[in-house]
Amino acid sequence: MCGIVGCTTHGAEVVGGLIESLKRLEYRGYDSAGIAAQTPTGIGIVRRVGKIRELESHLLTEPLHSSTAIGHTRWATHGRPTEANAHPHRCGKLVVVHNGIIENYLELRQELGDAVFQSETDTEVVAHLVAKLWNGDLAATVRLAVGRLEGSFALALMHEDMPDLIVAARRDSPLVIGVGDAAHWLASDVPALLPWTRRVIYLEDGDVAELRPDTLRVTDTSGKVQQRDIVEISWSAEMAEKGGYAHFMLKEIHEQPTTVANALLGRIAEKSGLVTLEGLNIDDDTLRTLRRVSIVACGTSWHAAQVGRFLIEQDSGLPVEVDYASEAIYREPLLGRDDLLIAISQSGETADTRAALRRGREAGAHTLVICNVAGSSMARDSTNVLLTYAGPEIGVASTKAFMGQLTVLSLLALKLGAVRGRLTDDVMRQRLHELKTLPHAIEAALRTSDEARSIAGELAAARDALFIGRGVNYPIALEGALKLKEISYIHAEGYPAGEMKHGPIALIDAQMPVIAVATRSATYPIMAGNVEEARSRAARVIAVVSEGDDRVARAAWRTLVVPAVPENLSPLVNIVPLQLLAYWTAVARNADVDQPRNLAKTVTVQ
Ligand code: AGP
Repeated sequence: MCGIVGCTTHGAEVVGGLIESLKRLEYRGYDSAGIAAQTPTGIGIVRRVGKIRELESHLLTEPLHSSTAIGHTRWATHGRPTEANAHPHRCGKLVVVHNGIIENYLELRQELGDAVFQSETDTEVVAHLVAKLWNGDLAATVRLAVGRLEGSFALALMHEDMPDLIVAARRDSPLVIGVGDAAHWLASDVPALLPWTRRVIYLEDGDVAELRPDTLRVTDTSGKVQQRDIVEISWSAEMAEKGGYAHFMLKEIHEQPTTVANALLGRIAEKSGLVTLEGLNIDDDTLRTLRRVSIVACGTSWHAAQVGRFLIEQDSGLPVEVDYASEAIYREPLLGRDDLLIAISQSGETADTRAALRRGREAGAHTLVICNVAGSSMARDSTNVLLTYAGPEIGVASTKAFMGQLTVLSLLALKLGAVRGRLTDDVMRQRLHELKTLPHAIEAALRTSDEARSIAGELAAARDALFIGRGVNYPIALEGALKLKEISYIHAEGYPAGEMKHGPIALIDAQMPVIAVATRSATYPIMAGNVEEARSRAARVIAVVSEGDDRVARAAWRTLVVPAVPENLSPLVNIVPLQLLAYWTAVARNADVDQPRNLAKTVTVQ
């Protein structure tokens, strides 16, 4: 996610302070940074690819002396991480920085026909649009312009003729104002404001704010003044980076409803039943002739691949193989031009997955990367990239990135099913409606946190745990086991529930907790049987069940109740209580939740 900062005050130098504020937003991830500052000779702009220190060292030699400035860290989505694509963007006397995705930027670029664009970004469109609509009043013109924008945005703009004014606008991307004495600050998140003030105002969707040193005016897009309360922040700076959560992992678990919404943004048209996957540059005829899909990944991404297998086979009729990347690279790829090789990777840097992707490409397969980092090696090396838009994932244990992967895989399965004539328009409309409403079910699943915390108090004493699931939720049992083992260090195994009688049931006794994914599904009756079998051998069964469940709930020791959703979407809901169970168990064991021992966020060696 990009980061925005800004400050307007009287007479004081603000650029150095804004650099410090940008550093407080580094946790959001970025690949370039820039500053625009009002100076006596106009607005000066400095932008650099790479870390903020690149910008800082330039400013030490060529300082920008200013009391009104805006700054930005860019997390590349549209357009590679280059200086030309870095923010701020300029159009004449106007400059703009942006966080979010302007979905209709291509149409606006066409509408702005004679405008000369300096970048590949969606953001630059905003500067040209404001210039085109210019009526002499920056805030009034911004109110007009944002009415033409589709998608999500947090914007900050300045105009050379108004040297102490910053105008900000937000829709779906956060913006916070800092209130000082004869100064106002602006930032994407609270941590960037704390060095200067603890008095903040959270802008709301549709707000347009005019910041001057001594005055602040907030209106809606019609110009009607909006009253916004000042909030006193009591958090420490470190807590503020985590949005008030104790750990990044907990913050990222709670971001998952937004993750799904962001992964869907601009990709689904519910009324027409169409899925548009910008970044998938394989034409429909080729998609129709594909004979097989092969997916390679590691760890949590491999679990996402296993869910993807169910979804793609069910919707498209294509056979899907899933392989650990670390295994695939030591076998003949046996792939060709009728095959689609998908590599799934949060970081886009995992060595085994990169190697497997390269071998598949060399063997002649069509390749597609599902990734969370636009500027990563895998994303840069591939002609087909589907970004998960989960934003940087700081916790080593992957949660929201996994959710983004499952969302993108759901869209890909629908796209293949529609193109290959297996899903009618009516079915597509229904399925897209179900996807669009999914964030509400995930919000509800997050409310199992207290129950998960209570169960964790006892689970924390266990030495081992067995996770079981069936069908599309078998990979969720695997993922739940991985979450528990990697952050609490309890030995945990995931198993297909149908395998219990073929060995694992020998393990079960009162010391072996069994975590069963037993929500409403075609396999529910037989899952209930598995729970009862475990219960009859004195196991404490913790069951993820659907609202209204009575059979499994009777046999289970404890239940984590989630909303019932269509079976193909249940993995995205059922994983939430298991993430929370792992999190609270690790907390109960005083483990290092965000940085578990021996683990790295990205494994760049084989
Ligand atoms: C997930 O919780 C783990 N941290 C790990 O298994 C991770 O999923 C794996 O290393 C793959 O990483 P990638 O998605 O960045 O390729």
